[in-house]
Amino acid sequence: MRSLQSQFNVSKTIGILHPVILLTDTTLVSQGVNPMDTFECIRKRRDIRSYVKEEVPDEVIRKIIEAGRLAPSAMNLQPWHFVIIKDKATIKGLEKFCTSGRFIAGASFAVVVVTDPVNKWHEIDGARAVQNMSLAAWNEGVGTCWIGAIDRDKVKEMLGIPRKLHILTILPFGYPEEFTVKRKKIRKPAEEIFHWEKYGHK
Ligand SMILES: Cc1cc2nc3c(=O)[nH]c(=O)nc-3n(C[C@H](O)[C@H](O)[C@H](O)COP(=O)(O)O)c2cc1C
Repeated sequence: MRSLQSQFNVSKTIGILHPVILLTDTTLVSQGVNPMDTFECIRKRRDIRSYVKEEVPDEVIRKIIEAGRLAPSAMNLQPWHFVIIKDKATIKGLEKFCTSGRFIAGASFAVVVVTDPVNKWHEIDGARAVQNMSLAAWNEGVGTCWIGAIDRDKVKEMLGIPRKLHILTILPFGYPEEFTVKRKKIRKPAEEIFHWEKYGHK
């Protein structure tokens, strides 16, 4: 699959022709991933567990982690640190500790999301930073997936993360394999979860 990112760059660098190119770039549109508005980004984003070999450029990595840094948090405490890993040997080394996310081995880069348990909100704050990163990445044609089951002590040891801090998740990032973007998105029906004015009013 051709890199979605490189398609973006081509479109972006030609300035005024950009909208024209977007309209005619059916590959991009058919992937369901393009520079999009926030709702479209939310609607189309998928968790991605399979990545092509192409590397994510540094400026895109920077944008993704910046989106995490800009997340809101309780009392604006920003109780988080992001350990950004590009080194392939380190990524490979993390594979054995990511028991529900062995697919990290194929990532272009990974972010270890570390929260500081200053209060009971630190995981919620961290999760908002994760969602920001995930959406910013998707907007750039880059996919990721939350890894939940991790040997946290081993990862702390490996990366020198202080024991008192909490590893919320590890996010592998990379350009998606095409089939992972096209899967059906399964969500509960609106009528099951929306209640108008009072619980139970459908
Ligand atoms: C808190 C949390 C933990 C998750 N843990 C894992 C995990 O360990 N391994 C994995 O492959 N996916 C994990 N996921 C991804 C979910 O399975 C995924 O978000 C869900 O299936 C919806 O995917 P979709 O947005 O592509 O439809 C996790 C997601 C969340 C929010």
